[in-house]
Amino acid sequence: MPLNADDQKRAAAARALEFVEPGTRLGLGTGSTAKHFVDLLGERVRAGLDVIAVPTSEATRAQAEACGIRLTTLDETPELDLTVDGADEIAPDMSLIKGGGGALLREKIVAAASARMLVIADESKCVAMLGAFPLPIEVTPFGFLATLRAVDKAIAGIQRSGPLNLRMGKDGHAFVTDGGHWIIDAKLGRIDDPKALAHALSGIPGVMDHGLFVGMAAMAIIGAPAGVRIIERT
Ligand code: A5P
Repeated sequence: MPLNADDQKRAAAARALEFVEPGTRLGLGTGSTAKHFVDLLGERVRAGLDVIAVPTSEATRAQAEACGIRLTTLDETPELDLTVDGADEIAPDMSLIKGGGGALLREKIVAAASARMLVIADESKCVAMLGAFPLPIEVTPFGFLATLRAVDKAIAGIQRSGPLNLRMGKDGHAFVTDGGHWIIDAKLGRIDDPKALAHALSGIPGVMDHGLFVGMAAMAIIGAPAGVRIIERT
């Protein structure tokens, strides 16, 4: 029977465990796929595997703690061996959109501190071109409207801009990230040049970070209806 989307995520997470060795210093991603990985890693830890991990969100921290995974911080352990995280979109060159779950800033900091980033995802995340998924841009609440205008101008300097929406939380107020910031979701439809856009957004005061991960992931493990396949960045 073909695997459904959640089974695909779990299958990718299970395969990623094969890259975890005793003593690995891990970055733990955020989202429904990373949640499967943390869950499966917890089983291995309870069976005796010794690893140490930095979570990329408070949600992942709580889950990892409940699973009995030994946690550290980047202050105590500034260099990690491997980060395993999900993605919202994966392009053929392995550039990514991340941040659908709002953890992009910590995810990027942790991935950048890791020797290797491994992406786990279901087949639906593989796209020919990034941009159908709204690009999350994490901003400071201070000066929000000025930053919003600057973001629109920066995008328009590179390609066609689109609706820029402040992400709302379930309580009807702006969604607040673990770092106390807000998120603009940029509905661009397509991102013609991810590297140029990443560079332009990073230069805006008020933008803490954005969900474009370019040149960071080395490998993706994709759970597909018929099983798991691995893509490596060339
Ligand atoms: C969290 O901020 C995101 O970057 C997630 O990694 C991404 O949204 C993928 O989430 P799922 O695994 O839930 O699809």
